[in-house]
Amino acid sequence: MTPIIDVTEVTRTFGSGPAATAALRGINMTVGEGQLVALRGRSGSGKTTLLNIVGGLDAPDSGAVRIDGKDVTSMSEQQRVHLRRETVAYIFQSFSLLPGLSAAENAGVPLRIAGMAPKAREERVATMLTLVGLADHARHRPGEL
Ligand SMILES: Nc1ncnc2c1ncn2[C@@H]1O[C@H](COP(=O)(O)OP(=O)(O)OP(=O)(O)O)[C@@H](O)[C@H]1O
Ligand SMILES: [Mg+2]
Repeated sequence: MTPIIDVTEVTRTFGSGPAATAALRGINMTVGEGQLVALRGRSGSGKTTLLNIVGGLDAPDSGAVRIDGKDVTSMSEQQRVHLRRETVAYIFQSFSLLPGLSAAENAGVPLRIAGMAPKAREERVATMLTLVGLADHARHRPGEL
């Protein structure tokens, strides 16, 4: 079975010369379909760096990352935009909800950008809010949740 995430010998160094920080040194990792994985490590051990690379937000200095069999590292910026829009989802620590929009509108933003039709979007948003127990708060703004 093809792993959903396949990371091979990934390295990433920030800065150069004496100030260089090797954030990732030869990382290998695979995640299979349906697996729930928690990445643990002390502060500064490279967790965020690895996640940024897996999601196509950053690129490694060497090594390869495949998502669902597709090589992320050799993708053009345009292809990575598609990957981030359609395949990979992040919930950031600072979650960046738009304060003027309701919970439902916030949840619908990526679907709007992806060009989903309004009716399909409403249904999808309703399903997702129900899944996380927020159906009764769909019209509330982030500050009211
Ligand atoms: N943009 C950057 N420029 C320079 N150094 C960086 C940059 N991003 C990360 N680093 C360095 O790379 C190393 C790994 O950082 P990273 O943020 O990936 O760690 P982390 O495991 O996510 O830490 P935390 O648990 O604090 O979130 C650290 O030494 C950090 O200072
Ligand atoms: Mg981090």
